[in-house]
Amino acid sequence: MKSINRHVLYIIISITISSQTTQAQKKTNEQRVDSVMSLMTLEEKVGQLNQYSDDLIATGPITIDADKASQIKKGQVGSLLNCMGSERTRTWQKAAMQSRLKIPLLFAQDVIHGYKTTFPIPLAESCSWDLKAIELSARVSATEASASGINWTFAPMVDICRDARWGRVMEGAGEDTYLGSKIAYARVKGFQGDKPGEINSLMACAKHFAGYGAALGGRDYNSVDMSERQLLEIYLPPFKAAANAHVATFMSSFNDLNGLPSTGNRHLLRDILKGNWKYDGFVVSDWSSIGEMITHGNVKDGYEAALCAMTAGCDMDMESRNYKNNLIQLVKDKKVSVSLIDDAVKRILHKKFELGLFDDPYKFCNTEREQKELNDPTHALAARDVAKRSIVLLKNDNHLLPLSKNTKTIAFIGPLVKPKMQNKGFWDVEVPGIDSAYVVSQWEGLVNKVGKTSTILYAKGCNIEGNNRDGFAEAVNVAKQADVVILSIGERRDMSGEAKSRSIIEIPGIQEELLKELLATGKPVVVIINAGRPLVFNYTAKNAPAIIYTWWLGSEAGNAIADVMFGDYNPSAKLTMTFPASTGQVPLFYNHFNTGRPPKNDSDLRNSYIDLPIYPRYEFGYGLSYTSFQYSQLHLNKKKLKSNEQLEVSATITNTGNYDGEEIVQLYLHDLVGSIVRPVTELKDFKKIALKVGESKTITFSIDAEKLSFFNQELKWVAEPGEFDIMIGASSKDIQLKDRFELVE
Ligand code: BGC
Repeated sequence: MKSINRHVLYIIISITISSQTTQAQKKTNEQRVDSVMSLMTLEEKVGQLNQYSDDLIATGPITIDADKASQIKKGQVGSLLNCMGSERTRTWQKAAMQSRLKIPLLFAQDVIHGYKTTFPIPLAESCSWDLKAIELSARVSATEASASGINWTFAPMVDICRDARWGRVMEGAGEDTYLGSKIAYARVKGFQGDKPGEINSLMACAKHFAGYGAALGGRDYNSVDMSERQLLEIYLPPFKAAANAHVATFMSSFNDLNGLPSTGNRHLLRDILKGNWKYDGFVVSDWSSIGEMITHGNVKDGYEAALCAMTAGCDMDMESRNYKNNLIQLVKDKKVSVSLIDDAVKRILHKKFELGLFDDPYKFCNTEREQKELNDPTHALAARDVAKRSIVLLKNDNHLLPLSKNTKTIAFIGPLVKPKMQNKGFWDVEVPGIDSAYVVSQWEGLVNKVGKTSTILYAKGCNIEGNNRDGFAEAVNVAKQADVVILSIGERRDMSGEAKSRSIIEIPGIQEELLKELLATGKPVVVIINAGRPLVFNYTAKNAPAIIYTWWLGSEAGNAIADVMFGDYNPSAKLTMTFPASTGQVPLFYNHFNTGRPPKNDSDLRNSYIDLPIYPRYEFGYGLSYTSFQYSQLHLNKKKLKSNEQLEVSATITNTGNYDGEEIVQLYLHDLVGSIVRPVTELKDFKKIALKVGESKTITFSIDAEKLSFFNQELKWVAEPGEFDIMIGASSKDIQLKDRFELVE
């Protein structure tokens, strides 16, 4: 008892001291910012609001300035993006150190899912529902990138995505707000570490604020028109979660929201973000999005664009040059106050102090550390671990998987078996001068796993696209010689990503026809589907005995796929986006409202389409395991809950199959009657648990008023008294346990 007290005392003292230190440090930084500000001319202040792309690689339509270096030396640039490597960043930082006030540059990069080591695309990782693994992936990425001169990543993308046609679904965490918020928090923590300025951390950026994922028709950059309630309830919570995790920056989105481009949207940036949420980081525009307001048509020229964006609360101009060219005149014309500019500059300088760049501008430019971190073998292990946790087992008739390591002859067929770089997916980073081609192909992964014990035959069969069947005969011939066939098909990696929307999201070309020919041999066929979005593959879904959906898994793809196929890892991932049965069903998501005339069953076509059921191919939360789980003993500690109370809900999960495994137990709620219509079901919690064969675990969830709340007609966040269905299951459809409780008073 005594020692516990001493321990508690110690914790209290250390918390007090550390919070005093943080306070003192904060104060110091604020004072330091003020003292730098007092020395700055208006030109130098505007310079801090200006971000340029380096000329090495471009992630947008670049403006080449011959005099970039001299602008930096004059203090006219606050940050560079697309500048990588300890030496190159050092060179540019040296230029900044020649400016009058020696204000260091920020170096930003899209470190979306890895730097040298590529992790699975974010949508894939989200299917792991494994917050620790996701945080680790961001941590490793930050460690590598920060060793390579970078101190700011444009990630995580926390846009909710309900339309699989939109190419950028690959960058997000899927369609669900609750899960998306948890993942947003974990990713920010992973990138930023415990406190700002740690040597192996990056500033993160919550993007794209806001509504970008709801682009009309899934067409990139398109308009978004949505109710304030939907914005607040569905699209903004992951941003709020990022803000709660102290994300250093936000990025405004390309789209117009209810008629006003986000970059010039005062309601979003000033009222909600900097007002209601009291956000004290800074906002960067998306690439040229200040200038693009002229094309949108809400401003007439660069002068008006700068006025609109600055007034709205956008602090830094990525690449458009409109702040640089117009802000000083706007101040002279008394359209923009110096205090508005000061606020933006302060926010940016504050981050530069937090990062420690004023103390050591070359802090992240250490070639030795770069060499060490970019060659750390543990990063590959982390990438492999996350990759296998991201693979979703969609079908497994007669336990075809896992394959035996004693299989005599395996035919590995398909256009995605041998390519390496495809596995990286979109938004990988090609680090100049560094071997970014480190990827274990699917072929190499199989050879690593069973190359010594099995004979592995190969045929490409066909291309990803086109209708050339010349390779079919060879593929069939190879299949006939094998005991089992593995077919790897899907999209090209650049068929999803920015500006990569598709109107028909089927498996391209004749790849499913190749499958048909292979199935005709009578051999068992395992299908691997590679993609950056949910695809439609009805033939495969109906006819292939086993399907794994691998998305794009990154550097360790081949090893991770082999781990799952041969049972060294029992798949546990579950879909975070609904898989439609036809592109015509999109947008399709699980937590929709009921209509007054919902379809009664699968064959009731009157109230959906006359030519298509409304039900998906695979629902949100779906994913199989090699083992089976039984759900039992649902227990609620009370049936009536007061708004200041907690409801404890427990259930027992038993591994009833033949393999150790992990289950993602999902808790859904349905508010039976609300003052506005409530979703048919909503994820409100989950737990991922590991169970050995025969093992049982009892898990407990807590439900409080927060989980029952929504935005009412007055846009107030309220929990209304009434009845709620509580459902626990293995997916949004596969509900195993159900009960009802009431919120009283
Ligand atoms: C994308 C952003 C990205 C930026 C910088 C834009 O085109 O929309 O997500 O961070 O480019 O590369």
